[in-house]
Amino acid sequence: MLIYANGVWVEAEQAMVPFNDLGFLYGDSLFETVRINQRKPFRLEKHLERMQSGMDTIQMESAAQLAKIPEILEAYISRNNLDSALARIIITRGISKGSPWRSQSTPAIYMTSRPINKPEDWPVKVVFLEEKNYPILRFHPAIKSGNYLGNMLAKKDAEDAGAFEPVFVNRDGYVTECAIRNVFFIKDDVLLTPSLELGVLPGVIRDTIMELAEKRHLKVQETLIHEHDVPEMDEAFISSTGVGVLPVTWDGYQSDYHHSQILSEDLQNVFDSGESYVT
Ligand SMILES: Cc1ncc(COP(=O)(O)O)c(C=O)c1O
Repeated sequence: MLIYANGVWVEAEQAMVPFNDLGFLYGDSLFETVRINQRKPFRLEKHLERMQSGMDTIQMESAAQLAKIPEILEAYISRNNLDSALARIIITRGISKGSPWRSQSTPAIYMTSRPINKPEDWPVKVVFLEEKNYPILRFHPAIKSGNYLGNMLAKKDAEDAGAFEPVFVNRDGYVTECAIRNVFFIKDDVLLTPSLELGVLPGVIRDTIMELAEKRHLKVQETLIHEHDVPEMDEAFISSTGVGVLPVTWDGYQSDYHHSQILSEDLQNVFDSGESYVT
């Protein structure tokens, strides 16, 4: 496997990040996980838009670096002969020059990938965790920064508890998202997902699902969902670039996952087509 490490193509085992890269030192970085279907990136434009929005928020000036990504990704797919995969694009503030918070560095790009693995269970189990117990920062607009410590600790706790993924509940009792996925519910034939104002990540697959739902004439609401209302939901699923639509359950919860199954199949068909757009 060849890795792209800031201008150099190198075998994964030999790839290195400089010790004074600000992403390594302070988590001063952003990343995207892009799905490769049939050798083509899925909705790369949406990932780049999200990265651009993150760069604007953290004042990382790098239009020139961002513009290079499609070409680097194409070379990455071709050099590694990738048919399907999850490609990870990382952009850091670069190598520290002068004061770390006023560094005059050029942002650095890294690219790596991993295979797409389908979970064995269907539905998978989730646990609801209070996000105040984890170092998780939420602001609007959300950024996909390299600071995933809270997400990773919660994911580990969820797995230790026999679950696939945690679903976070914020200090006000509202459901936000998962460690590395968005969450959806269905109630009375309406598709519900937590509003972006809560600081949840605008998932590329979250958007795609809402578009697919509208095509199915399912009403969609981005809203506030209180934890007290969760047991009454007709269906629940999580979403991400890696898993697509994945129905979920928790202790005592049962559903027929009627709409979830349809949306899961619709999304899989989009992935199988190798096309980027559903609208
Ligand atoms: C916190 C969080 N929420 C949601 C998602 C899902 O985003 P996407 O649909 O773009 O994969 C991710 C993906 O990494 C994530 O880390």
